[in-house]
Amino acid sequence: MKYEIAPIWCRPWLLHGLSEKLIESHYENNYGGAVRKLNAITAKLEAADFEKMLAPELNGLKREQLLALNSTLLHEIYFACLGGEGGRPPKVFADAITESFGSYERWKSEFVAMAKALSGGSGWVLMSYVPRDKRLINQYASEHPQAIVTGMPVLALDMYEHAYHIDFGANAAAYIDTWFRNIDWAVVQGRYQDAAQTLPPRPLEQPEFPIPGIRVDEVKAMLDAGEIQVIDTRPRHFVSRQQEIVDGVKWRDPERVQEWASELSKEQPVAVYCAYGFHIGCKTAIALRDAGFDARFVQGGHSAFKALGAKTRKHDGSD
Ligand SMILES: [Fe+2]
Repeated sequence: MKYEIAPIWCRPWLLHGLSEKLIESHYENNYGGAVRKLNAITAKLEAADFEKMLAPELNGLKREQLLALNSTLLHEIYFACLGGEGGRPPKVFADAITESFGSYERWKSEFVAMAKALSGGSGWVLMSYVPRDKRLINQYASEHPQAIVTGMPVLALDMYEHAYHIDFGANAAAYIDTWFRNIDWAVVQGRYQDAAQTLPPRPLEQPEFPIPGIRVDEVKAMLDAGEIQVIDTRPRHFVSRQQEIVDGVKWRDPERVQEWASELSKEQPVAVYCAYGFHIGCKTAIALRDAGFDARFVQGGHSAFKALGAKTRKHDGSD
């Protein structure tokens, strides 16, 4: 595969305070250099005999490929972010920024502080969209590969010295100010709208259950506040194997729900759970609802409590 050089999106002669010389050098030497390097590595990999190649050589090539590919992709976003009049983002994106950061000012204050903290060093400051959380986040990419997994950079500020020393010398703060005056927010917003159509990764979707579940962090807060009755209904063999139970929780055998249901109060909601929050917890919650309790099952079950850091005590599965 041959990676093509993408044309420069912004018109260098129209930028405010960033010289054509700077942009040309950046585009031709650094962006172009990344694409050339990527093609050279790709050619080497395509010709490689992987059966014979030693591990350190392969490791080196794959790492360099990742560096060059990310450098290529980030530089393309960097140049495509420029060519505007700066100012404020348009409404859709401004609203997204406010939702993620509290306000435009708050976002900018963090973004600029991060860029200044990189002065004299090198790296990228990115605003990226994370589909899992449907939110924007500022991140460093001190080396090109340090991007958030599945995160989609929508705005990229290059803080490698090659991006400013021709015009600004060591005055990185002046470069950051000037760069802001050139952001093309309409393009950034378009990139955000494309990114926002990406669905969260599938494994995070909850399976369908016949009754509503309750999140483990909610249950833990209610349990600590004494607002809910929580019953661990893992099968007996699970508890006797794991020998532990969440503090403040009673264990009851899910096979005998009709016997122990009368211990519960109808004045407070009831949460029940099994090992991982699947069928047994759900089935027990349904039985309790049929008996007139405000019962829900805990999503993620015992394991989710452990993941939350809940304290446990020893329990051998006896009533
Ligand atoms: Fe660069």
